[in-house]
Amino acid sequence: MGGNDILVVWRRISMATISNRLTRLLNIQHPIISAPMAFAGGGELAAAVSSAGGLGLIGGGYGDSTWLEEQFDICAGHRVGVGFITWSLRKSPSLLTDVLKRRPVAVMLSFGDPRPFVDEIRKAGALLICQCQTIDHVWDAIEVGADVVVAQAAEAGGHGMLRGALSFVPEAADLITAHSPKSLLVAAGGIADGRGLAAAIMLGAEGVLIGTRLWASEEAIVHPRHHESIVEATGDDTIRTTVVDVARQIPWPRGFTARVRRNTFTQRWHGREDLLEQSVTSEAPRYREAFSQGDPDNTGVWFGEAAGLIGAIEPATMIVERIATQAADLLRDHSGVSLS
Ligand SMILES: Cc1cc2nc3c(=O)[nH]c(=O)nc-3n(C[C@H](O)[C@H](O)[C@H](O)COP(=O)(O)O)c2cc1C
Repeated sequence: MGGNDILVVWRRISMATISNRLTRLLNIQHPIISAPMAFAGGGELAAAVSSAGGLGLIGGGYGDSTWLEEQFDICAGHRVGVGFITWSLRKSPSLLTDVLKRRPVAVMLSFGDPRPFVDEIRKAGALLICQCQTIDHVWDAIEVGADVVVAQAAEAGGHGMLRGALSFVPEAADLITAHSPKSLLVAAGGIADGRGLAAAIMLGAEGVLIGTRLWASEEAIVHPRHHESIVEATGDDTIRTTVVDVARQIPWPRGFTARVRRNTFTQRWHGREDLLEQSVTSEAPRYREAFSQGDPDNTGVWFGEAAGLIGAIEPATMIVERIATQAADLLRDHSGVSLS
């Protein structure tokens, strides 16, 4: 056994782990799921998260069957799941039929009514994860008997709504305990380190779903200049807005906004959405070109408030293991609180 192997074995033995109903249900080592991030979360990231002991989800996004096939090929041999934007999936439901042939561990549905897809997911033997932004959404998830319910708070990067984690997570936990005790609750939004995971558990969740912190990983499909911009950002440097969807001409249902980096583009158009709409024939190609060039100022740069907790772009394995270990240590030692 070489020095490196000894180090790996030592790390595995010395690492405290949290095991609970979520780790048992998903058959994983740490109660950490990677968010199925459209465009950014491909097979490489999902595989890295799963091999670190979490569950990696491929971002099905708005649905590109060729891209999805490629991503499943990249992580062949790993236990991964996939996530879809539900209102978009309704326009091309065959995408679900196709990915179920790849035997994902779980399918996450977010942003829309899960009902039309539940039977097909169950029949294929995959677990159902429903991401919720409001208490009404939690009721929907309870009604369809979701295996995992994600309470997504407003701090989250990407699309979401307005609830704050500190009240939304325990409110969802109480509902689930009372009406669907077999469903397991996971918290999302603003979680980037072990403090976030430990806090989520204290609030009544059994684990976390992490986007932004893993967007800032080596395996995410993100332009290096966008990566540089998250390292420099604080949690104040993001905004919830619809201008990115207006510019991309993606018809998101009312009520959903996207949290992205505050930049020249958002400053120019946020609050002037009508004007942006009127100039969209010239602005849409400009937005897309800036995105593909990695321009951090003139396009959407997709990350959430957790940006302020991120100091480096690191391998996803390191991120997952550090979050898990730090949370376990915090939960065990209770961070120096003295009780009398
Ligand atoms: C770049 C990016 C893309 C995202 N795309 C999706 C998506 O396609 N589908 C989805 O359900 N959630 C998506 N989300 C939201 C995540 O599912 C999750 O709720 C969020 O990332 C959690 O908050 P955090 O970013 O603070 O970790 C995205 C988030 C980010 C940062």
